Amino acid sequence: MNDAKNSRRDFLARVSAVGAASMLAGTGAASGSRAAEGQAKLAIDGGTPVRKTVLGSRPYGPQFYDEVEKQEVLEVLDSKNPFRWWHSSSKVLQFEKAYAEHIGVKHALAVTSGTTALYTAMAALEIGPGDEVILPAWTWYADYDAVVLCGGLPVFAEIDESLSMDPADIEHRITPRTKAIVPSHLQGTPADMDPILEIARKHNIRVLEDCAQCCGGRYKGKFVGTIGDMGINSFQLSKTITSGEGGAVTTNDATLFERALRFHDVSSLRSPYQQSLSGGLLAGFASCNFRMNEFTGAVLKGQVSKLDTICGRLRDNARKVREGIADLPGLKLRKTGDQDGDIGVTVFLDLGTRQRRDFFLRALRAENISASGPGGSVILPADQRIESKATIHPEWPSFRTPAGQAIRYGAESCPRTIDIIGRMGGVIMDPSFTEDDVQDIVTAIRKVYPAIVKV
Ligand SMILES: Cc1ncc(COP(=O)(O)O)c(C=O)c1O
Repeated sequence: MNDAKNSRRDFLARVSAVGAASMLAGTGAASGSRAAEGQAKLAIDGGTPVRKTVLGSRPYGPQFYDEVEKQEVLEVLDSKNPFRWWHSSSKVLQFEKAYAEHIGVKHALAVTSGTTALYTAMAALEIGPGDEVILPAWTWYADYDAVVLCGGLPVFAEIDESLSMDPADIEHRITPRTKAIVPSHLQGTPADMDPILEIARKHNIRVLEDCAQCCGGRYKGKFVGTIGDMGINSFQLSKTITSGEGGAVTTNDATLFERALRFHDVSSLRSPYQQSLSGGLLAGFASCNFRMNEFTGAVLKGQVSKLDTICGRLRDNARKVREGIADLPGLKLRKTGDQDGDIGVTVFLDLGTRQRRDFFLRALRAENISASGPGGSVILPADQRIESKATIHPEWPSFRTPAGQAIRYGAESCPRTIDIIGRMGGVIMDPSFTEDDVQDIVTAIRKVYPAIVKV
């Protein structure tokens, strides 16, 4: 609660520093036609909306499909072998190589989904009973489920205003049993990797980057998924590049790659990987079948070649929105560890309180601009099935510390995360937005923003 009060105080202090009065009058930093926007009657109050029709963000990803993917898929049909192995030119292998080359990592392994990529990475990292894995309190279920289904114990760290794991909330959660930290790069913004890596190295803990919501993102010049010990990605329908379902595991470590390779394919090593990558250190072990099929590989091979274009357009659009509102008094954008590396899929504002955020969203929607709070993730410790620790077997994992103490989740374990998620509101960008669409977003934000001070 104190956090919530502090954020409200912060917001008002920021606004009064630049002059709330001038803001309400639509003057001050805003000028000319922009000031007029600030004074126009809001659509929520019966005024004319900025747009006649709704500028929507789709619930699914860009799907930049064209002849490229079509041709690749037809070649698979013609080959009459949609299985990834037993080929001289497997599409899955070509995709893996193209993706690894694109992001600059030694090894990429294609799998059936982001979720199975997480299971595969957990197996490679040898996460098992008693091991603790630190996750952000706001991310997707799969991060939690992957740990639990290995028999490990998820430990949640609060997020910060970047919507990713707060590096300052990690170290005190480390115990002798902590084996990995899983920073998720959420809604297009890379997590702040430097301090996370520093803590992990100090305590000899592995780092697995979850890049499912940030494909193509970079942190200080490096693509996400190449920075920690391992990375995973998802190519599910709502992701930057997509084949409907699909995933990948990435690493620069040959032994981790061989473990992942074996785990995803009934422990086999097949051509072109018959030679052990770990120098014969590894033997077979209980594993799965998460192999990607050739149709999926064909689509993804085409999609990788478009990743730069998609991210380039998103970044451009998001930058124009940010620049168009930069002079708004007291404006606080979502924090980022690297603005240039952000893929620009969202522009979020920290509105200080949930009440003000909700008003902002309602007002923007009335102007016919789709607006939302953070999405695509869940406040995991507060989720009913996680709070109740429901699993496939009542006694596994035990959710107990070695001293026998029961681990407790629940909303009370992540108050900051709940507060931050409730304060953030903004727009989901689309690479197909036109110059006019982007301008409408700017106009609508400028129009409704002055009114939020009164909320
Ligand atoms: C952060 C994150 N991790 C993992 C996943 C799982 O990916 P998939 O849906 O491909 O299994 C998702 C899916 O949305 C996600 O958002």
